[in-house]
Amino acid sequence: MANQTITLGIESSCDETGVALYSLEKGLIAHALHSQVDLHSDYGGVVPEIASRDHVRMLLPLIQKVMDEAGIEKPDLIAYTAGPGLVGALMVGGGMANGLGLAWGCPVIPVHHMEGHLLAPMLEDNPPDFPFLALLVSGGHTMLISVQGLGEYKLLGMTLDDAAGEAFDKTAKLLSLGYPGGPLLAALADEGDDNAYAFPRPMMNKPNLDFSFSGLKTAVMLQVRKSEANGELDANRANIAASFQRAAVDVLIGKSLKAASIEGLERIVIAGGVGANRLLRSEMERQFSGDVFYPRFEFCTDNGAMIAIAGALRYLEATDPKEIKAQARWSLETLGIPAA
Ligand code: KG4
Ligand code: ZN
Repeated sequence: MANQTITLGIESSCDETGVALYSLEKGLIAHALHSQVDLHSDYGGVVPEIASRDHVRMLLPLIQKVMDEAGIEKPDLIAYTAGPGLVGALMVGGGMANGLGLAWGCPVIPVHHMEGHLLAPMLEDNPPDFPFLALLVSGGHTMLISVQGLGEYKLLGMTLDDAAGEAFDKTAKLLSLGYPGGPLLAALADEGDDNAYAFPRPMMNKPNLDFSFSGLKTAVMLQVRKSEANGELDANRANIAASFQRAAVDVLIGKSLKAASIEGLERIVIAGGVGANRLLRSEMERQFSGDVFYPRFEFCTDNGAMIAIAGALRYLEATDPKEIKAQARWSLETLGIPAA
């Protein structure tokens, strides 16, 4: 990177406002996160307009906070999430990044949210070398990607319906666990027997590398109804959660192992919100013969640090964006390799 050393990362694609300062020399210098969970929980999901307004409210104070902590007046580069995500929420981060870029006279670079997730393990002390297989599992995406280098992404498989995080969230809702459901469901699963119900492992034995979670969700729904009808739902709740989690994790691991073997990859990166799932991490480590990498728990879910590092690494490519970029849908495969 020319003489850009400190990158301010801004994440505002959904319901977390995340900012961070990342130095190519020193690593992560400061980061701050504000979760909007309390604002959306009454609605059982993210309300886009509320999300946008709260990003407006929180971004500047959080940026000020990390700048004060780091004792710097201005960064050398600003990276912001340009998509995929909620367009209004993205525009808040993009507008802020470009406004500050003008004020500070520093370059601004748009970042793909999923590339941020994918590169998040690079923030850790023991980062993965290329090439690796990435299992990207978030609330909106479930993808297997062969990563040969920065920007060299080949999509090997994806979900045909619900994303993994969405399946956790919807199952949690069926069990009346509240929002966001993934971590609550995982906690309840710890108290249950994962062999209690033989839920389907959709697509597990198909030769392709795609996923499908809707059949699993339906099976859980039928079991919930049955338990309810028998007056046994409270007694069965933990067992349903544990059996669901085991089925979902089995599918994610089965397909990842298949992909690693087909592609001859000896490293697997697990990233995205569902990457915080302890069973997924421990089972991948147990079953995969190669090395498994993941970010620390707080950087599995959305955060500014992953956007800062992705922007810093990408800035090798000279950019001078003339407009604020905000894309609701955006294929990772179109990113390309940054020009030296
Ligand atoms: O990456 P992320 O923060 O946001 C998106 O980009 O979507 O992922 C959020 C998703 C939610 O669906 C949430 O329920 C799920 O990650 N999640 C989990 C766990 N922690 C978060 N799912 C399963 N187990 C967890 N421990
Ligand atoms: Zn995310």
